[in-house]
Amino acid sequence: MTQWTLRGATTSYVVEVPSHGQWASLVAWGPHAVADGPSLVAPVGTEHYLPRADLEPLEYAVRGVRYTTPTDLVLTGPDGSDELRPVFADSNQTGDSLELTFVDAVRAVRIVLHYRMPAGLDVVERWVSVNNDGSEELTLRRHESAGFVVPTSNGAVVRYLWGEWNSEFQQGIVELRRGRFSVDSRQGITGHSYSPFLSVADLEDPAGTTWGVQLAWSGSWELSADVDTTGQTRIQAGRAPSSLGLALAPGSSWVSPVAVGGCSVEGVDGLARVFHAYQRTFSRRVPQKALYNSWFATEFDVEAGHQLELAERAVRAGVETFVVDDGWFVGRSDDTGGLGDWDVDPVAFPDGLGAFIEDLKEVGLGFGLWVEPESVSPKSELAAKHPEWILQTAGREPLPIRNQLLLDLSRDDVADWIWETLDRLLSSYEISYLKWDANRPRLDAGDQRRDLDGKVVTNLYKILDRLRADHPQVYVEGCAGGGARVDLGMAARVDTLWPSDNTAPLDRLKIQRGFLTGYSPHLMSSWVTDAEGTHDGRERSLDFRFHVAMAGGLGIGADLSRWTDEQLDTAARHVAQYKTIRDVVAQGIVHWLEEGPTVGVQYVAADRSVVFLWDTGDSNVRGTLPTRPRRVRLVELDAAQRYRVGTEVHPGSYLMQVGVPDPRDTPTDSHCLVVETLD
Ligand code: DGJ
Repeated sequence: MTQWTLRGATTSYVVEVPSHGQWASLVAWGPHAVADGPSLVAPVGTEHYLPRADLEPLEYAVRGVRYTTPTDLVLTGPDGSDELRPVFADSNQTGDSLELTFVDAVRAVRIVLHYRMPAGLDVVERWVSVNNDGSEELTLRRHESAGFVVPTSNGAVVRYLWGEWNSEFQQGIVELRRGRFSVDSRQGITGHSYSPFLSVADLEDPAGTTWGVQLAWSGSWELSADVDTTGQTRIQAGRAPSSLGLALAPGSSWVSPVAVGGCSVEGVDGLARVFHAYQRTFSRRVPQKALYNSWFATEFDVEAGHQLELAERAVRAGVETFVVDDGWFVGRSDDTGGLGDWDVDPVAFPDGLGAFIEDLKEVGLGFGLWVEPESVSPKSELAAKHPEWILQTAGREPLPIRNQLLLDLSRDDVADWIWETLDRLLSSYEISYLKWDANRPRLDAGDQRRDLDGKVVTNLYKILDRLRADHPQVYVEGCAGGGARVDLGMAARVDTLWPSDNTAPLDRLKIQRGFLTGYSPHLMSSWVTDAEGTHDGRERSLDFRFHVAMAGGLGIGADLSRWTDEQLDTAARHVAQYKTIRDVVAQGIVHWLEEGPTVGVQYVAADRSVVFLWDTGDSNVRGTLPTRPRRVRLVELDAAQRYRVGTEVHPGSYLMQVGVPDPRDTPTDSHCLVVETLD
């Protein structure tokens, strides 16, 4: 038997290959100490009427080794068999990485399990490559990236994120003593319905050690948690299988996307911190400028003069970047036309876009532009010129959604055209911000065996990577009809993500609370608008709306021409404060303080903390009844150190034991407090 240990900041991941070489299994995954004694996941006792592999904590379960419990890889050949018996052939451990190679001699298939546990983090990246070294075409029927084994001897509590348009990132929870729970997207995009993220804790210790898995993929995917009868949970993560399977030609390789497992002894909030730290390694560490986006104010009715009026008001509020959303290009007076014809509409910008950008510059604003490069309107010139670029199944009409079709981004000529279009826009105009939208799922299957989903996502990633490399000054926002493309694949390639089109204060707070369970605040774009709630329509102050947006990357999306001077002054006060705290918000360690009628969060940086407190209760009895002071306790301070919090000065011991005033006892319904060390 051979063992390998991957060591992270506070957790270890230990795998072994038994001397028979038929599989790799998990020895331990958790805080370093779990590797110091007997394994928690090794089966005890004998198996009954089952192959041994169906019980062992397999790292990667291949059909033909495992039979009755879920498998990660099913590969068929022309003989109709779906069995493989790969045997351990080689290992390679270097730095923070490990590769384990297994070979099936009969089929000439080589499977490599890849691991990486980056130093200083508590995540393990896992992916697999499947190589057809034989002379026959094979078909991949199931192709998970990895299986993660979690010890849950009392059953599992599984947490997940669900939603729909305008209501993304709702927190769901399932108590699973036995059986399977799965979430997925078959939409060719990450989707509004579920996030590619599951976490698991022991049912008897739901606030204790928590393990989670996210998948770095922006196409169709699936994640599942399977609790067997012995109390072991196995999380599988991978691309969704297609009904025809994927062809694996002789001499070719298939590489899965990366699945990332994280573990924290500090429960779900700790797990969120583990994923935040990981996602920050992709970040260019430029906190979001305060922006204005005109979508809610004007929708498709974009007109330079009016946009400039909005811009002048945005400047008064202290905004730094002005983003023109949908509606700036020819043929785009509503959502039935224009997509694909990315030329500036001369009616909207009679003096040209360049002149408009100059006008913005004169009032001190940078310029941002909306695009939706993967889509095409049926009545566009592009659709007429290149009907062969439209994604459709031969002989069938493509299915329009939001009156639009998709370009077939699996084609390299389409990918080249999208790149050239973006490169032309970014090279012709002084653009510092690009909002990349995607407003429909990909449903027309095309030829699945040529791996449409894989090629589309790969080409999307190539364009985004090139954007970053060739136009590094452009801050890129990922958006998909709200939050339908939030995942690790995007997190690695854009600067910020748009979680939802719902900007009403109480709805938004709930969406952001869910978003932050899996994704870092530096990725959370948020605007202040006048929107009413879809789910919770109770009114909140403008301060409250600002504080919700300042907990991520702040934007304003309201129709500022309707705002009073007093509202603009309020905006200016908050935008000024945002500029002083945004690095803490983007990079701080997130601790949730309260989850009751008052919701509180503390972003902890080395030199200070930023605390947001929101009163989400009814609030209509404030001051009308006698009460006792309520305070919200802070965390992560030095007990002996004195801190200034607003107008108060207290030792850390007081702030951690007693706290700061709850907004329910104050005249406002929210606070943004900076906790600073007193020398
Ligand atoms: C959907 C996005 O989520 C909105 O913010 C806006 O950009 C519209 N698309 C524009 O069509």
